[in-house]
Amino acid sequence: MWDPDQYIRYADLRLRPAIDLLTRVELQSPRRIVDLGCGVGNVTQMIAERWPRAELTGIDSSREMLARARELPDDIDWVQADIANWSPTGPLDLVFSNAALHFVDDEHAHLLPKLLQSVTPGGVLAIQMPRNFGEPSHTLMYDAAREGPWRDRLTPLMRPPPVAEPEHYYDILAPSASSLEIWETVYLQVLQGDDPIAEWTGATWGEPLLEALDDDERQAYEADYKRRLRAAYPRRSDGTTLFPFRRLFIIAMR
Ligand SMILES: C[S@@+](CC[C@H](N)C(=O)[O-])C[C@H]1O[C@@H](n2cnc3c(N)ncnc32)[C@H](O)[C@@H]1O
Repeated sequence: MWDPDQYIRYADLRLRPAIDLLTRVELQSPRRIVDLGCGVGNVTQMIAERWPRAELTGIDSSREMLARARELPDDIDWVQADIANWSPTGPLDLVFSNAALHFVDDEHAHLLPKLLQSVTPGGVLAIQMPRNFGEPSHTLMYDAAREGPWRDRLTPLMRPPPVAEPEHYYDILAPSASSLEIWETVYLQVLQGDDPIAEWTGATWGEPLLEALDDDERQAYEADYKRRLRAAYPRRSDGTTLFPFRRLFIIAMR
């Protein structure tokens, strides 16, 4: 279950890539826009500010996140749906998705070309996904799961890295794109406080593991994961922890 409060704790850092993606979409006046995996709606709100006359829909599978989104003042349609089974009711000019498609249980080789087909010719599919799954922030989480007494329960919940190499996305989208731009950015995130990386990953990628443990186990598991993280990302003399985070961007025009 998604916890809106935990997620928005690092909203500034999580918003930066969304802004970088949004700025690179060159559409002048898209009429119908969908934000897939809109969460609490703060990125959807930025989309509304950029194109105030567009008809805008935010889609998310989490009732809790959408409840928070519905508190926003904007005229946005909020719809609860699973992106894997979602299909648009009419032609779209922009399908936007920030930090969500890596959670969807559908092969990207199937899902992304389908999403590109859902925009009109000249329309755009704009996606940002994290690609940090091979870095200690993520591998240590699974090491702590594999090497503790909870191994049998947690191992089946571990997912293979859900985001492929950039070249894969070129191969699956190029056949139906009139233009295709793919790039990566590594953000050097400067975090404050105790064990900030565990806080960050626990709110997203670690959720299913934490939910499978009882309170005592969760404490013991988190203590082990944090110990490993502190060795991999030592706190600096100024009190900060540097967390390099790689993200993949795709802008495909149909
Ligand atoms: C990391 S948040 C990103 C939220 C927002 N796009 C942002 O940039 O702040 C991921 C969101 O994707 C949603 N999500 C995950 N899997 C989904 C699915 N299969 N269908 C719809 N939404 C999904 C989650 O509920 C969550 O709100």
